[in-house]
Amino acid sequence: MFIVIEGIDGSGKSTQAKRLAEWLESRTGRETIHTYEPGGWPGGESFRENLLNAGNCCALTELLMFLADRSEHVNRVIQPAIISGKNIICERYNASTLAYQCGGHKMSLDEARRIISSCKFPEPDMNIILDISPELAVSRIKSRTESDRYESEGLSLMRKVSEYYRLIASGDRDNFTVIQCDNMAEDEVFTAIKTCLEVKIWQSR
Ligand code: TYD
Repeated sequence: MFIVIEGIDGSGKSTQAKRLAEWLESRTGRETIHTYEPGGWPGGESFRENLLNAGNCCALTELLMFLADRSEHVNRVIQPAIISGKNIICERYNASTLAYQCGGHKMSLDEARRIISSCKFPEPDMNIILDISPELAVSRIKSRTESDRYESEGLSLMRKVSEYYRLIASGDRDNFTVIQCDNMAEDEVFTAIKTCLEVKIWQSR
C-alpha cells in the first residue's frame, strides 16, 4: 500500500505518518517505510536545502525542482519499496506540488497536472489531507525555531494552499480524503485516518 499524507505546514503530517507506519506494519504484516518529500532519498538532504533556499525562481523552475526531487525519491526509494512488496507512508507527493506551486505560486493547475502526469510517477492508493485552519498552522509554525522560505511567507500563502488542497480533493474523491483536524486531538485524527483506510481500501477490495 502506498499512502500519502498531505496538508499545509504545521498540520501534523509527521506525527500522524509515523504512527500510521507503525500501525500499518502490524495491520498488514508487511514491512512499512516512512518517507517524505522533499529530500527523502539517500543524498536528498542537500538537494532539499538547495530547493528550499533557491530564492525567487520562476514558477516553472520551482515546479521542475520539486519534480526532480520526486524523480530521485521515486527511483531510489518508492519504486524499490513497491517492487519488494513493502507498504509506503509518504509525507507530501504530487498534491503538494499542485497545492503549493499552483495555489501558492501561481502556476496553472492544468499545466502543472500535464507536466506531473508526463513524469509517470506511481499513483498512491490514497491521499489523506490533514486540513487545519491556516491561522492555527501559522501559530504552530511560529512557535518552532526554524522556518523555511515557504513557511516564512505566512498566512496568505497558507490560505491559498489550503484552498487548493480542498479543490484538488473535491475533484478526485476516490483518491483523496480530507480530515478536518482543527478541533481534534492527535488520537482522534489518528483514529479518523485508520477508519478512512479501513473503509476506503480494505472494505472496497
Ligand atoms: P516540509 O518541510 O516537509 O514541510 P512541513 O513543514 O509540512 O514538514 O516541506 C518543505 C516545503 O516544501 C513546504 O513548505 C512545502 C513545500 N513543497 C512544495 O512547495 N512543493 C512540493 O512539491 C513539495 C513536496 C513541498
